[in-house]
Amino acid sequence: MKTQVGIIGAGPAGLMLSHLLHLEGIESVILECRTREEIESTIRAGVLEQGTVDLMNEAGVGDRMMREGHLHHGIELQYSGIRQRVNMHELTGGKSIMVYPQHEVIKDLVAARLEARGEIIFGVSDVGLHDVETNSPRITFLKDGAEMELACDFIAGCDGYHGPSRQMIPESVRNEKKQIYPFGWLGVLAKTPIANPELIYANHDRGFALISQRTPEIQRHYLQVDPTEDIANWSDDRIWSELTARVETDGWELPDGPIIQKNIVSMRSFVCEPMQYGRLFIAGDAAHIVPPTGAKGLNLAMADVQVLKRGITAFYQSGDMNWLNHYSEVALRRIWKAQRFSYWMTTMLHTNFNHTSFERSVQLSELDYVTSSRAALTSLSENYIGLPFEWEKERTLQI
Ligand code: APR
Ligand code: PHB
Repeated sequence: MKTQVGIIGAGPAGLMLSHLLHLEGIESVILECRTREEIESTIRAGVLEQGTVDLMNEAGVGDRMMREGHLHHGIELQYSGIRQRVNMHELTGGKSIMVYPQHEVIKDLVAARLEARGEIIFGVSDVGLHDVETNSPRITFLKDGAEMELACDFIAGCDGYHGPSRQMIPESVRNEKKQIYPFGWLGVLAKTPIANPELIYANHDRGFALISQRTPEIQRHYLQVDPTEDIANWSDDRIWSELTARVETDGWELPDGPIIQKNIVSMRSFVCEPMQYGRLFIAGDAAHIVPPTGAKGLNLAMADVQVLKRGITAFYQSGDMNWLNHYSEVALRRIWKAQRFSYWMTTMLHTNFNHTSFERSVQLSELDYVTSSRAALTSLSENYIGLPFEWEKERTLQI
């Protein structure tokens, strides 16, 4: 088999890249180890930045999102039992976020790719990357027991944190920077009405809590727990009483109901530098992980592939690798800002049980400052809603 861009992974990064390349007349094939049903039903994040919403619409895959997603103009921050609204719409000159689950984004992108006769090969195994430092890289894989090979001009490694692509960057070149937090998130999907018009991020002595939403009937909430905690210790009753204790305020009640799914994830930050090796380009979770507090994971994946698409398109228009050779540098500048923001939100909102009483007071004072300063609220809002790309900034890009 032969194509222009071989893409490993049908997550948001791989699917959106394939779709954007198609809109530029560039061919790609996606190789995915899971089934279509699995990728379309895995519960993940749910907040789209303004730029991701615009991208979905401009790429012609935003119709269902605009109909079924929930547009939010702000979030609410809670600490010391007080809840404060952050009017992000006003603070960012009219921008918003969309609450629309990642697996719905996946469904929309898979449908668009298949409708355009794009090729997604599901259920592959033993994916191997070869000759990435040459102009003719190859991907080998097994499909239904048969050995297959895909020859291409470029490989896009969109295969998530555990995929094989990043490992192809030699250790002598690869610099992996990471931070592990002493926090885990217990996430639930619950059959209840929407708890609040906007998301609530709550700092509490007992630990952080997040009230989110999915549909009018099903909601998504999170509790900070020890990352080594066993989910078996968390009965539905315990989850509801803990959520209630952390988010209660006068005159507001958290609706409860049957919990239909629960799991615990640990939290870390991770960046791989560079994101290119020869003709291999890694994007999304393959290159970086953020703690979920800033709601950036999906949005960063979508941002990377917009940078990559520009580079690949420039190559096919002019044969010039200059843009592509700057992919890593351009993408990483924005990624580090999202890492900074996610780290800041995480440390500001979670309760670190190893902290001294002095550190706890500084944290509360930071929340007091952030919620009372227009400058600080503007900074929080512009980061949450999504920073511009290098080429959208006012200063000239010197590449
Ligand atoms: N071969 C083929 N496919 C693979 C392989 C492999 N060896 N390893 C992983 N994959 C597939 C996974 O099955 C998955 O569908 O690559 C895809 C990677 O998708 P994601 O993990 O969703 O990563 P990405 O597209 O970068 O999107 C990042 O996903 O994890 C969330 O919070 C994260 O929202 C963020 C988003
Ligand atoms: C979610 O709804 O899953 C969600 C919302 C906001 C976050 C993280 C996750 O910061």
